[in-house]
Amino acid sequence: MQKWIVLLAVVAVIIACQNNAEEEYIAVPTPMELSIPTNFPEVAYNLEVNPLTEEGFELGKKLFYDGSLSSTGVVSCGFCHEQAFSFTHHGHTVSHGVNGLEGFRNAQPLHNLAFFNEFTWDGAATHLDLQPIIPITSEVEMNERIPNVLSKLRADKEYPKLFTKAYGDDVINSERLLKALSQFMLQMVSGNSRYDKYSRGEGEILTDKELAGLETFRQKCANCHAGELFTDQSYRNNGLPMNPNFPEEEGRKRVSGFQEDHYKFRVPSLRNIELTFPYMHDGRFGTLEAVMDFYANGMVANGTVDPSLIDSNGSLGIPLSITEKENIIAFLKTLTDNEFIEDKRFAEF
Ligand code: HEC
Ligand code: HEC
Repeated sequence: MQKWIVLLAVVAVIIACQNNAEEEYIAVPTPMELSIPTNFPEVAYNLEVNPLTEEGFELGKKLFYDGSLSSTGVVSCGFCHEQAFSFTHHGHTVSHGVNGLEGFRNAQPLHNLAFFNEFTWDGAATHLDLQPIIPITSEVEMNERIPNVLSKLRADKEYPKLFTKAYGDDVINSERLLKALSQFMLQMVSGNSRYDKYSRGEGEILTDKELAGLETFRQKCANCHAGELFTDQSYRNNGLPMNPNFPEEEGRKRVSGFQEDHYKFRVPSLRNIELTFPYMHDGRFGTLEAVMDFYANGMVANGTVDPSLIDSNGSLGIPLSITEKENIIAFLKTLTDNEFIEDKRFAEF
């Protein structure tokens, strides 16, 4: 009888060991392609230092939608960056973070970040991996400290497993946290709008109105909103009056310190612009019509206005007829990429 018990115990131990071995067996992360539309420029992000994998993407996605990255446990990245609006904060001129506190800028869309060199309206973040530190630590956004975030993740049931899947062991540090967030955001490529399919010659036809809008856009807007990303990624002042609610806003000067950069902002990409209202760094315009009226009649000389917006007589603005405004708006709406907005890979649920 005793022999049997010993034998059973031995078998049990062997089975337990096998199970353990299975659990500890670490699968190599599955490489994930970044699909780059053929009409797009080269990728700016160095993927060699952060090779994209399915497991890294999944980890980044969970982190992106996790409120525990904030001090109150409820403000996730996705709180201010909603997919349905190309990852902007719908209904907010300037973003709202923890405890309803207000920031001073309009949440930017998150798309095609792999092709950008610098981030935020004033270029304060010089690398995508560093960008999330700003919202996580900002008092009016997530108001948390990175070491606290890491402690919460280490104490969680799921995260150590997910980090192991993505990186081979369960070490949870800031580099891995930030690289995983980048993995998720890098995959957010929006390049399947009607315009893209037209541009790549995939059989999409634009209406006469849209084509006329594209033509006017190329003449009057594309020196700044250049190329297939619709931005040359430079910092410019497009002649907006200073916003009295935010007198401390200095634009690019906040980063560079140079007076000549006062109130300059990174030229925004106009992709998905139909969805990312309200517009400008402070969300001051609710509609594209208001933006067109501003370009035609609303500019003010505030010291650093882009020379291309001032004619030889010294008057400001881009002359636009009513039809031209309508045509440009019709064209801008061809930049809406519904496949991206509805892509389940990026959805919270
Ligand atoms: C409280 C709202 C809020 C939260 C939460 C938030 N963001 Fe943002 N995000 C913004 C605003 C506002 C900007 C523009 C900031 C600026 O220009 O100063 C921005 C800009 C960005 C940009 C730059 C985009 C570009 O085109 O340059 C990235 C990337 C980004 N956020 C990612 C994240 C990630 C990742 C998280 C979570 C860790 C996050 N955000 C959390 C509001 C938020
Ligand atoms: C001299 C460069 C320049 C020219 C020319 C220019 N823009 Fe802009 N545009 C900018 C800058 C810079 C901003 C951001 C300004 C800010 O937020 O303070 C901007 C913002 C915008 C926005 C708001 C984008 C957003 O995400 O909120 C739209 C829409 C826009 N421009 C459309 C146009 C159209 C249409 C034309 C041509 C009629 C045009 N722009 C010409 C530089 C330019």
